[in-house]
Amino acid sequence: MKFFVDTADIDEIRDLSATGMVDGVTTNPSLVAKSGRDFFEVLDEICETVAGPVSAEVTATDAETMIAEGRKLRARADNIAVKVPLTWDGLKACKALTDDSIMVNVTLCFSANQALLAAKAGATFISPFVGRLDDISNDGMDLISDIRLIYDQYEDFDTEILVASVRNPIHVRESAKMGADVATLPPAVLRSLISHPLTDKGLEAFLKDWEKTGQSILDR
Ligand code: E4P
Repeated sequence: MKFFVDTADIDEIRDLSATGMVDGVTTNPSLVAKSGRDFFEVLDEICETVAGPVSAEVTATDAETMIAEGRKLRARADNIAVKVPLTWDGLKACKALTDDSIMVNVTLCFSANQALLAAKAGATFISPFVGRLDDISNDGMDLISDIRLIYDQYEDFDTEILVASVRNPIHVRESAKMGADVATLPPAVLRSLISHPLTDKGLEAFLKDWEKTGQSILDR
């Protein structure tokens, strides 16, 4: 499973990229606003830092302007994936952009039928929002399992399931068990994946015992 980071914070992206865990980045207008930075400037920096897909979202609501915005975003770098909302206009834009070999991430997916439409429109990625479904007492992970089941029925569907609105490590583990292609993780969630108290405890004990030997590997 690929990991994308869900942020427009370039310092976080650079720091996490050094771990080798970052296969791509997703941004959205709210994350850009949070960064307080110029959209194109931050996008250029992200695309220089990460080789994999970098999602940049259109802000128009009609297909024609979405397509124009998408082409402009794609012109910034080869690894841009244009993000469009799951509306009829978004799907029209998805079809037009993917026909031009531009990667498209269809976002704001909350139902299996929406995911079916996105695949038929040729989306590169579908972004089901699991956390926001959990917030309204629906099980977000049920949607991932439904989309996996549907996509696996049809050989001509190439759309990758990109689990979005991830809030905790359980979302990540369950996404992997269900065979999701990608999960886009807030930096804090990605960092939390490594935590286990027995790892910390075990390392502390090993180091204490090693100190008793009085030896040093580098001194040999
Ligand atoms: C990513 O593509 C989405 O925009 C993001 O995961 C949404 O997350 P949120 O529901 O925490 O805002």
